Amino acid sequence: MKIALLTTGGDAPGMNPAIRAVVRRAASLGHGVLGVESGFHGLAAGRFREMDAPAVSGIVKSGGTVLGTARCPEFHEEAYRRRCYRRLAERDLAALVVIGGNGSRGACLEIARESGLAVAFIPASIDNDVPGTEETIGFDTAVNTALEAIDRIRDTATSHQRVFLVEVMGRENGFIALAAGLADGAEVILTPEAPLSVAEVVAILAAGVRRGKKSMIVVVAEGAVPLAELAAGIGRGYPGQVRCSTLGYIQRGGVPTARSRYLAHLFGAAAVEALDAGRRAVAVGLDGGRVSLGDLLGPPPPPRCLDHRLLDLAHQLGGAVGARPDRRRSGKSGPARGD
Ligand code: F6P
Repeated sequence: MKIALLTTGGDAPGMNPAIRAVVRRAASLGHGVLGVESGFHGLAAGRFREMDAPAVSGIVKSGGTVLGTARCPEFHEEAYRRRCYRRLAERDLAALVVIGGNGSRGACLEIARESGLAVAFIPASIDNDVPGTEETIGFDTAVNTALEAIDRIRDTATSHQRVFLVEVMGRENGFIALAAGLADGAEVILTPEAPLSVAEVVAILAAGVRRGKKSMIVVVAEGAVPLAELAAGIGRGYPGQVRCSTLGYIQRGGVPTARSRYLAHLFGAAAVEALDAGRRAVAVGLDGGRVSLGDLLGPPPPPRCLDHRLLDLAHQLGGAVGARPDRRRSGKSGPARGD
């Protein structure tokens, strides 16, 4: 069988180990892999690259994706999708492996419905917001990158007895903010799922000063509140010095951690084994710590929800007990998990 392989959407550390696992596992099962450059843009343009075992040598510890990626809103148009399917048919490609995030999972569903191709989806995104898996490739690396930066900021915040507002990635969710904030011992964590008013943040900071805190960190997911707006609001109610730091795209790069590589290898191999076993529309994931093979054409898995109890724990451990009203949006808080 000839398998096409592409990475799409925002890149994530661990995509390269996943590419390597797909190519090497396919070779061990007697299948060939044709890489597609720049995601669905490259597929529509017919930009393919032979991917044999030597082609993926030495990439296991490289961030980014050697195939390149792109965001491709055009894929929502049926004519564009048909062009992509034709490119695959021209090369007698019987199957497609897609490595990407939440939007890419939706693209795989369209492909499975329309193209007649066998398709396998591998979840890779720093946001960790892909339904059907409790963890995505790249999330652990992004959290550790953010944590290292926040720990460094904590040093200077303590030296100057300042408050730092640190923005992390996560346009629609706070998984990175929660994981990195909890690990740092941040005093406040602001997420799109559980916003706090400026007055509530100022109350937590004032309580921290009364308890003699030498530094305070407010971790802000980029989708929660604009940092400048938050800083201005806090500045009107809090007398101490406040500084801002936006971590930005360093969270998308870097050497993938052991955890990200572990998931990449397991998911990549599982995707190829599923196609080899005759699966036609499979979504690889992690369920209870074990690799799962979801059915893309089956009932859609529930959206990923932030665990509000972990958020409350982070605030309690950060010393905000009693200062932070236990207000939260609707949304179940599931069992305490490791995500
Ligand atoms: O989806 C991953 C992500 O890094 C988000 O956290 C972030 O908001 C977005 O991508 C940035 O998008 P772009 O790479 O298109 O600038």
